[in-house]
Amino acid sequence: MKKIIWLFTIIFVLFCMTACEDDESDNMSNNKIGIAMPTQSLQRWNQDGTNMKKQFEDAGYIVDLEYANDDVETQIQQIENMIIRKCDIIIIGSIDGTKLTDVIKEAADAGVKIISYDRLIMGSENIDYYVTFDNYMVGALQGQYIIDKLGLESNKGPFNLEIITGSPDDNNALFFYNGAMEKLKPYIDSGVLKVKSGQTEFIDASTQKWDTTVAAERMERIINLYNSDEKIDAVLSSNDSCAMGAIKAFEKAGYGTQDKPFPILTGQDCDKLNVMAILEDKQSMSVFKDTRDLAIKTVEMTENILKGNDVEINDNESYNNGKKVIQSYLCNPIYVDKNNYKDVLISSGYYAEEDIK
Ligand code: BGC
Repeated sequence: MKKIIWLFTIIFVLFCMTACEDDESDNMSNNKIGIAMPTQSLQRWNQDGTNMKKQFEDAGYIVDLEYANDDVETQIQQIENMIIRKCDIIIIGSIDGTKLTDVIKEAADAGVKIISYDRLIMGSENIDYYVTFDNYMVGALQGQYIIDKLGLESNKGPFNLEIITGSPDDNNALFFYNGAMEKLKPYIDSGVLKVKSGQTEFIDASTQKWDTTVAAERMERIINLYNSDEKIDAVLSSNDSCAMGAIKAFEKAGYGTQDKPFPILTGQDCDKLNVMAILEDKQSMSVFKDTRDLAIKTVEMTENILKGNDVEINDNESYNNGKKVIQSYLCNPIYVDKNNYKDVLISSGYYAEEDIK
């Protein structure tokens, strides 16, 4: 009898061990996630990558996180490797949204699902979902901020405005521009806002690769168009890296005095250096896109795709990539300036006070 009990105990223990291993290998082999991010040179993408990696790993997934140094060929290579390593889903923050069609077809042929992350991948029918912030609203917040701060609705003016838009290979850049221009264009048309450079079209005001130096050099050329008794009152800058370029140009031109204060200057991302610039009155605002929220949404979306559940979307009309309208989830951006940064950035735990000193 004792022998039989021992035998049963051993069989039971062996059974439990195998079940456990199966469980683990289920998590390990079935749930591999590739995350292809554009660059580590801007703070935001580092945060996106880190937030997503942590949340996926906490949920038991294996994560392959790669940054492509803003080089399209490198990104294509990284995505190819993710396909070879059998990732089930690849999440892509593209560098040039028009250059990934072939590699994404390879992924689709291998049964890999693709989530376009923050930036829309263009020209491919193989994009499954898009998760981003409401990019049009980002621009609208920037435009409205300029209107409010200059008091345009109470008939103040005229004022000098200049415009810095983003990279032409990034589909978001046009959304930011259109959102802002919907607000500002009526004032430009009526002459209340004057753009002395004449560069009001998206492409004329664009900044290749969102590069700070490119933005700084262009802004220097624009400042030189103004006489010494004139000043630029406001700059619509689509993001923080471009705003940083504008700050450098204005500092070089002697702005930042009582007679010639820094212009009202918009941004986006709430990068630490830019929040510091806000506290020093060199930049006026930035649009905050909480990358923690975007990571939560992306993880949720991924899990639902893998489990075959319904995937939550809240926009099925705005983002046509030239092949089809991509089902999207848009998170809400909000603006941050000197008055609310403590509530939005510090109390929420996004930054510690020391981070922005
Ligand atoms: C992102 C912005 C970012 C910019 C430059 C855009 O696609 O939405 O948050 O500032 O790229 O990296």
